[in-house]
Amino acid sequence: MKDRFLRACRREAVDRTPVWFMRQAGRYLPEYRALRREHTLLTLCRTPDLAVEATLQPVRRLGVDAAILFSDLLLPLEPMGIPFEFQAGEGPVILKPVRTAADIDALRRFEPREDLAPVLQAIRLLRRELEGGVPLIGFAGAPFTLASYAIEGGHSTAFALTKALMYGDPAAWHRLAGLLAAIVGDYLRAQVEAGAQALQLFDSWVGALDEADYREFVLPHVRAIFAAVRGSGVPVIHFGTGTGHLLAAQREAGGDVIGLDWRLPLDEGWRRLGDAVAVQGNLDPTLLLGPRPRLIERVDDVLRRAGGRPGHVFNLGHGVLPATPVENVLAVVERVHDQSARG
Ligand code: CP3
Repeated sequence: MKDRFLRACRREAVDRTPVWFMRQAGRYLPEYRALRREHTLLTLCRTPDLAVEATLQPVRRLGVDAAILFSDLLLPLEPMGIPFEFQAGEGPVILKPVRTAADIDALRRFEPREDLAPVLQAIRLLRRELEGGVPLIGFAGAPFTLASYAIEGGHSTAFALTKALMYGDPAAWHRLAGLLAAIVGDYLRAQVEAGAQALQLFDSWVGALDEADYREFVLPHVRAIFAAVRGSGVPVIHFGTGTGHLLAAQREAGGDVIGLDWRLPLDEGWRRLGDAVAVQGNLDPTLLLGPRPRLIERVDDVLRRAGGRPGHVFNLGHGVLPATPVENVLAVVERVHDQSARG
């Protein structure tokens, strides 16, 4: 069944639970490492044929139920006026981090159909390549997660500068988050126009906020993104990690499918969200590094907690780790499909 992923997003009946993986394209795959020996990450993202190849590698090898566009969350920063690089072993580095109201007021809105044209072209090519196959997921970053890179200058764990800006100059924060929301809403719409059949909004780090701050500083902006894409007719996945305490608020902000990481059992997370929404998750990616019996036991546990209810998309709670053996990823796909087969 080629549409089991889209059907599950809409909480319709499926023949088997659909499964795909965040970071299913990446360094754990030898064919991806071979591509990366020839090209930088940003070259892969900005060259449609290469982005197509990186997207299709895991689809060919794993038998997953969805393809996710190969791109990066940070691409919209550069045309806004926030250039960055990827430095080997260190992840993204923002060349001139955004720290003040004046920095924020110098940023600009842009036309994704021009400035991110290669990404949209990759989507068009992928739809042709995937014809008769699995659906294609487009994605973008949510304002908090994008702003955290722009402000901190790279990856962060405490988000101290981001929170300092929020608390110290709320008006400037809201201008930044509002600009990001407008850009991301437009970019996601452009991805659907190009052919994306589902969308995922990554708010990977928003779990760093308490619920009151989430409601004040984030929720209105995320809600604006969902409002912008609502008319596009494709399901939208709302993803975060460490968000057990935010699930009800995230649900209010929007999304047809809400991401659950591994910190809460799937049934408890779903209970907090209510039955009227689908869920995606929630296996700990670290389990894929370890012994097979424990991995399989925990796959079964996730499926048991989902209980065959319509609206479960199997995934990890976060991305596949680079050290993951490919056989373990394959074993998860097979186990999910076998164990969830509906007679
Ligand atoms: O297969 C897929 O999931 C699609 C491709 C994809 C990439 N980045 C390619 C990539 C997706 C969906 C992303 C999203 C992304 N990028 C997020 C949100 C997802 C999440 O993990 O929460 C974030 C925070 C980023 C920013 C980013 N990109 C960081 C922090 C890093 C460095 C960390 C690391 O893993 O090395 C990247 C690099 C990056 N983006 C890689 C890939 C495959 C690493 C591999 C490489 O350097 O080739």
